[in-house]
Amino acid sequence: MVTYYKKTNGEGVQVEDTRIAVIMVGLPARGKSLIAQKVVRYLAWLSISAKAFNVGSYRRADTPQPTADFFDTTNTDGERLRHAAAEAAVADMIKWFNNDYGVVAILDATNSTKARRRWVKQRCDANNIETLYVESKCDQEELIMSNIMEVKTTSPDYKGQDPEAAAKDFRNRIRNYEKVYQTIDEDEKDLTYVKLIDVGGQVIINQIKDYLQSRVVYYLMNLHIKPRSIWLSRHGESNFNLEGKIGGDADISVRGEMYAKALPDLVASSVAPDQKLTIWTSTLKRTIQTARFLAASPKGYDKLEWKALDELDSGVCDGLTYQEIADRYPEDFRARDDDKYNYRYRGGESYRDVVIRLEPIIMELERSENIIIVTHQAVLRCIYAYYMNVPQEQSPWMEVPLHTLIKLTPRAYSTEEVRFKGNIPAVSTFRTKGSTAKHQ
Ligand code: ADP
Ligand code: F6P
Ligand code: PEP
Repeated sequence: MVTYYKKTNGEGVQVEDTRIAVIMVGLPARGKSLIAQKVVRYLAWLSISAKAFNVGSYRRADTPQPTADFFDTTNTDGERLRHAAAEAAVADMIKWFNNDYGVVAILDATNSTKARRRWVKQRCDANNIETLYVESKCDQEELIMSNIMEVKTTSPDYKGQDPEAAAKDFRNRIRNYEKVYQTIDEDEKDLTYVKLIDVGGQVIINQIKDYLQSRVVYYLMNLHIKPRSIWLSRHGESNFNLEGKIGGDADISVRGEMYAKALPDLVASSVAPDQKLTIWTSTLKRTIQTARFLAASPKGYDKLEWKALDELDSGVCDGLTYQEIADRYPEDFRARDDDKYNYRYRGGESYRDVVIRLEPIIMELERSENIIIVTHQAVLRCIYAYYMNVPQEQSPWMEVPLHTLIKLTPRAYSTEEVRFKGNIPAVSTFRTKGSTAKHQ
């Protein structure tokens, strides 16, 4: 039974009409926590309230540093404590749905037996919460060992311990799980599930029910773990930037042209010689002009122009300075400062609108490998906010200077950032709240 919830959260924003518990399934070191965290970040970026409940952290409250034998199912104390941890996590998850307008929860645990999965389903069914099982199955021994070395030896479970000993113990922990692990199969055809086999090499989907579930599944299908980076740059300084005007489709200035010429070397300094790179720009002249030397580089980089990467549409304010906006539309100017993320320019867009139109870009970025995006101040803020998990109240106010290349490298549970300065002067287009200063 599905009950539909049409209500608003505390901020008056309409929330989704379904509630989904995403139940992770899989042996340890199969990327479950990584997937859980990414789904939460993606949904939060789309303003869909999401939260992960990690059973391991509930278990740590009682058993902070278990050895492998704790996870042997013949260990009755271990079994009792593990069940208590799962119970506490599920209880908190249900409380979150009921009290905090939760929309998507991720139950991050092994859930490795049919009995455990049935039990979770009963708890969710009783609370009108849909269940979506996500199993990560992977038997590539080498990959599992490298996962253990990458994330498990530094887990709080092994704090202060020798990494080699920790890896060995974790391998034994997995062996204990393997003794009882049941993959999702024919007997569970009534469940809604997605099975990701060999990091998405094969995907099996069963009984996906609604739009939100299919969006989560589509996102999961696009994930990969090949090492790669994303480079972000604003266009070179434009003639509108020099005049303090927003929007438009101006050419780049003389200094903007210098940045365009410097960009191939700046990029080369942070790309391995054999790495392939694809350039994405908006459809506006200033980003295309900025990327043209890079596109012509002997490396033969491919280039794509995306309408979705065009700057936030400032509607009737397009072509004005901030001072002119404050003079002509003082109420709008104040309203934008009060809630910059949600303020929509008359006849134009808000940051929220930009995020929605950037969703296909994020999906394509997840599927892709090395990409350099040459775009605009507001669009760059939105893409950066996705990778760095920046809250909506902050993201429209972030400083992203001109003539600076930002390199983002996704790591297991975080994104690493390095900034490269072009050392070519440019005006600042950054405006602090309340100010109408042309350049600061
Ligand atoms: P778990 O929560 O299953 O114990 P983690 O999320 O802590 O596993 O493991 C993270 C590691 O798993 C990272 O090194 C990541 O590269 C790798 N990984 C991510 N997705 C997958 C996948 N679908 N299959 C196998 N390994 C993956
Ligand atoms: O000034 C450059 C610019 O890209 C404008 O075209 C755009 O309207 C503005 O920045 C977006 O920044 P903010 O949201 O801070 O006004
Ligand atoms: C854990 O205790 O670390 C854990 C993941 O537990 P479970 O097997 O119950 O998911």
